[in-house]
Amino acid sequence: MIAQRPEITTPRICLALYGPEDASRLRDHVSRNEPHLARWSPAHPEGYVTHAYWEARGKKNVEEAEAGKAFRFAITWIDQRGGPLLGMIALTDLARGPQQWANLGYGLDEREQGKGIMVEAVKALCAWAFDDLRLHRITASYMPTNERSARVLRRAGFAVVGYARDYLFINGAWRDHVLTALVDPEDRPPGAKSGPG
Ligand SMILES: CC(C)(COP(=O)(O)OP(=O)(O)OC[C@H]1O[C@@H](n2cnc3c(N)ncnc32)[C@H](O)[C@@H]1OP(=O)(O)O)[C@@H](O)C(=O)NCCC(=O)NCCS
Repeated sequence: MIAQRPEITTPRICLALYGPEDASRLRDHVSRNEPHLARWSPAHPEGYVTHAYWEARGKKNVEEAEAGKAFRFAITWIDQRGGPLLGMIALTDLARGPQQWANLGYGLDEREQGKGIMVEAVKALCAWAFDDLRLHRITASYMPTNERSARVLRRAGFAVVGYARDYLFINGAWRDHVLTALVDPEDRPPGAKSGPG
């Protein structure tokens, strides 16, 4: 068991690792945003917009975080932590040993775009990943037509590292992606704590 579920805060927003008890809010978020998110997302499994799916997903989310495999967060305003989700953000496919990598993914409620929420969430999550998880490199990719996502990553300091043909099967077809990465600004060996002590 994780003693305390990770929670990352900024003056405006809160990123809370979600669990089965958040199923209703997660379902409401994906249901409200289905057409908006589907354009940029892999095909969803059967029952994706049901309470049962998100209850099971929430349970698995806690297990995967406990195993150090993936960390998926619900984003809310800092003063409305139990309220509707602004979006979701995740670090998945963690690789340890000499790699210390993870992959970043995110999506925002359509009505909450243009407020700087996702740039703020990406910056806070990456700082946590470098400082607390001691990861060294975060990768993210976007379809060349996804200009909003490109701007989020650029603003958060990610650099383009390549271009992958037919990289992911999204919205019914294999799609090219621009590959980007952010490297820990501090040069610390795997597992090393920063600062004195
Ligand atoms: C990609 C996505 C998260 C970007 O959302 P977004 O609203 O553009 O991102 P932010 O919340 O960080 O807002 C940034 C914008 O808000 C503006 N903004 C307003 N207030 C701001 C503030 N206080 N701080 C910073 N930016 C602010 C910025 O000017 C910026 O706009 P610009 O890039 O046009 O200049 C969103 O469009 C989305 O969910 N898309 C569908 C899913 C998706 O594409 N996921 C990623 C797949 S790779």
